[in-house]
This record gives sequence, structure tokens and C-alpha cells, in this order.
Amino acid sequence: MSDEPRSGSDGEDLPAQAKRPAQPEATAAAASEIEKTSEAAAAPDDAGTPDRPSASEPDAPAPTLAIWVRGLTKKFGDKTVVDGLDMQVPRGAIYGFLGPNGSGKTTTIRMMCGLLTPNGGQGECLGFDILKEAQKIKEQVGYMTQKFSLYEDLTIRENLDFMARMYRLRNRKARVDRALEELGLADRQSQLAGKLSGGWKQRLALAACLLHEPKLLLLDEPTAGVDPKARRDFWDEIRRLSKQGVTVLVSTHYMDEAVQCDYIAYIAYGKMLISGPSAAIPDMIGLHTWRVDGPNLQALETELRGTEGIEQVARFGAVLHVSSTNEARLRQVAEDHMAKSVGHWTEKKAELEEAFIYLMTGATDNFSNGVKGVAA
Ligand SMILES: Nc1ncnc2c1ncn2[C@@H]1O[C@H](COP(=O)(O)OP(=O)(O)O)[C@@H](O)[C@H]1O
Ligand SMILES: [Mg+2]
Repeated sequence: MSDEPRSGSDGEDLPAQAKRPAQPEATAAAASEIEKTSEAAAAPDDAGTPDRPSASEPDAPAPTLAIWVRGLTKKFGDKTVVDGLDMQVPRGAIYGFLGPNGSGKTTTIRMMCGLLTPNGGQGECLGFDILKEAQKIKEQVGYMTQKFSLYEDLTIRENLDFMARMYRLRNRKARVDRALEELGLADRQSQLAGKLSGGWKQRLALAACLLHEPKLLLLDEPTAGVDPKARRDFWDEIRRLSKQGVTVLVSTHYMDEAVQCDYIAYIAYGKMLISGPSAAIPDMIGLHTWRVDGPNLQALETELRGTEGIEQVARFGAVLHVSSTNEARLRQVAEDHMAKSVGHWTEKKAELEEAFIYLMTGATDNFSNGVKGVAA
């Protein structure tokens, strides 16, 4: 992951949003990031963030945003599954969409590309109104659904050919040939889709949604259940596309994927809890981390898990990363152990890895209640 998130074409700071951490020990960096984001949410800025739609001009053009939505809401029956969601995806970015199962990611993606009508809110996808211009969006977006949705009883080539017909593409054969070549599917083109392993199925699904050369890819858990090697190959492909200027919004549960994203949004219970450049996320949470190595790490790990104020103990190879949003308490625990010569402790900057674990584990329950630093 780069420390410098890729930005829009003009290279300026890109929008970030986070609800304001409540705890006083938020770092200066976090505070400044949050100030920036609060301003972003509160008022249009004449000094120049033309990429951000302003509250007073909801229909203002947003040339450097591939997607923006505001107040997006979806109800199924009396259950609100997406609840007033604001989100901004810069053009050219790889944007990671995180959240527990059932938090509303798929529903959000479907609304963003015009497949599902929201009950409230507004937004644009590639400059088209998500409420009124669904057809135009579909023509320019590649959407890879969470469940494999191609024909299992057609071969790879037949599936791609079928998709090319659906999109009414010219030079169909040439385009299918090229897709087979680019995605490394040529040797397998006669295999039935239903006989492919998970990794190859995903590759075929990606090839299918790339046939019409979309500017934006919406990938909904594209590598769920796929083995690590196939996942890495898939991500090589995503980075290649990103370098060509394709914007990628990808939902995932995998840390090794999240850390490759330029931006992260985390939703739970249909609400956006945090979003911003990946490198800023740990500070937005207000997470602090110490690294510990030494003998008997297993016993230390067990002890630290039961230690008041320690919110997370994660093992990275032969070291522990011990994290808390309470910086002073964490330091005290570290110093107590150092005084007793238990483990070798070094303070480190909290990275997206620790933040990811924090977000994806039970900590998020407190987090969503505003206890751990993100208040409404
Ligand atoms: N068509 C539907 N009808 C009723 N409930 C739905 C429908 N689609 C999704 N839901 C519900 O909406 C919630 C969010 O689902 P989803 O968007 O699939 O979440 P995620 O993709 O984050 O797992 C879940 O509780 C799910 O059961
Ligand atoms: Mg889903």
C-alpha cells in the first residue's frame, strides 16, 4: 500500500469523512485530518475542492468523483438497511468498501449503479443521476456481483460471447479474443464455467464485466472463498486496470485486499462509520499500537487480552501488535512490562492492518455506539 493515496487527476487532497472522535487523546494528525473532514462535510470551500458536491448545490458537477451519494437510504419492509449514507469515490481510486455481513454493502452498490431504487437520498455515478439515468450508468459500469452470475453450462468463450451480445458490442469476436488473452483465459476457453475453480470463475466474471471497457468497476466481494494465490492474481489484474484509469469500488472482508486500497469506507448497520484515505484511517479511529517480541509470546498474548484498556492484540508472524485508543493506558501497560523485562516493546505507528482488525472485530460494536472514539 502506498502512503500517498492516489488522488484525482489534479493531485489535490481528496475528500475524507469521519465522524469526530470523542476521546481527548486523538493525535494531532488525527485532529487535523478530522478538522479537514469536518469542513468537508460542513461547508463548500472556495479555495478549491471542485470535486466535492456542496450541500447548497446538490447538483453541482463533480468531475473528479466517480461516485457521490448523499443521504442514500433503502428500506426493505420496515427495516432500514441503508441509512442516510454519504460516500464519495474519487475517479481513478481503488476504494475499499468494508463492513460486516448484512451491513448494506451490496444494497448500496446496487443503488449506486441504478439497479435498485433508493427510498431516499441522491447521487451520481460517472456524472449520471443514480435515480434517473440508470441505463447510462449500466453502459459504463462493470458490476461483478457477489454470487457468480454467468452460465455454468456454457463455456468460458460462450459466456463472454453471450455478454458481448448483451452489450451489443461491435467486433464481438475480436473483443472476446482480447478478453480471453488479457485475463489469461485463452487456454481454457472451451471449459464449462460450471467446472471451473472459484479463482477461475472470478477471473471469468471479471473478464465478462470488462468486455464493454467500463470506466468504473463495482466488485462485490470478488474473491470471497478464493484461494490466496488466485486472490493475489486477481488483485494484480485490479491494479493493472487501475493504472489504466479505471476506478474500482471493491467490497471485501480480507485484510490483504483492504491494505491495497487507496481509500476505505466502513459501514455497519447501514450507516457509514468512517471513510477516508487508507493512510488516515488509523488516526481517524485514534488507534495507538506497540510492537512486542521476545520469548513466551503466547502467554503474554493471553495475558494482554485480559488486560483492562487493551483493545486489541494481533499476532503478525513472530511479533504482537498491541493496540488501544487509550494512548496513556497502553503506554502504562508497555512500561509495566518493560520494567519487568517481559517482552521487548517498541511504540509504532498504527497502520491500516491494525485499523482493519479493529474495524472488523467486536470493537466495532463499541465504535458504532460512539464509545471508542467515533461519536455522531
Ligand atoms: N431484496 C431484499 N429484501 C429484503 N431484505 C433484503 C434484501 N436484500 C438485502 N436485504 C437485507 O438487507 C440487509 C443488508 O444486506 P446486504 O446489502 O446484502 O448486506 P452486505 O452486502 O453488507 O452483506 C440484510 O439484512 C439483508 O438481509
Ligand atoms: Mg453483500
